[in-house]
Amino acid sequence: MAGGGEEPFAPSALGTRPHWDAAYERELQAFQETGDAGEIWFGEESMVRIIRWLEKQKVPLDSSVLDIGTGNGVLLIELARNGFTNLTGIDYSPSAIQLSEKVREKEGMSNIKLLVEDFLAPSAELSGFQICIDKGTFDAVSLNPDNAVGKRKQYVRSLCSVLKPEGFFLITSCNWTKEELLNEFREAPESHA
Ligand SMILES: C[S@@+](CC[C@H](N)C(=O)[O-])C[C@H]1O[C@@H](n2cnc3c(N)ncnc32)[C@H](O)[C@@H]1O
Repeated sequence: MAGGGEEPFAPSALGTRPHWDAAYERELQAFQETGDAGEIWFGEESMVRIIRWLEKQKVPLDSSVLDIGTGNGVLLIELARNGFTNLTGIDYSPSAIQLSEKVREKEGMSNIKLLVEDFLAPSAELSGFQICIDKGTFDAVSLNPDNAVGKRKQYVRSLCSVLKPEGFFLITSCNWTKEELLNEFREAPESHA
């Protein structure tokens, strides 16, 4: 059982910013050459599941949505295509945000807001979100070689500060079970794993 201060995973480069900077620099280069937005973590189906869930809950289309660790920003494009109008994506990797800006431009979705932000030290601008979505970012944070337990706790604190008390948090993970996530986020407002 994870949570409660244990370090369940071996530290990995995937938990570090230099890894993601280098990965998105490569993907940015590839996008410029081929127009391909790059890897969709957990596949297209993961985006369909998130959007279906939001539709099922009848979440209003103008709800403020934050995509935490947006990467290439493709999830935000899909949300916009499905009618969501108040979308923000953050990533601590400037090359990820450059790529997501290029993808946004290609798709003509200029109303999506994109910011370079470290979620573990969020700026005051990030607050009052009705929906927070994480697809693979908490997984990456959990692999950080430097104090992963402290970083996981900071993630939960950051979530509490950016998400409205009655808001929804949707998380997709390949390293944690649903029960482990519910345990990890039990201090956060209502969680859906
Ligand atoms: C596995 S990728 C997933 C990217 C995107 N969510 C997707 O589904 O394609 C993890 C992402 O989290 C970002 N990330 C990791 N730690 C972060 C942090 N502390 N603050 C903001 N972004 C972070 C990485 O730069 C990377 O874009």
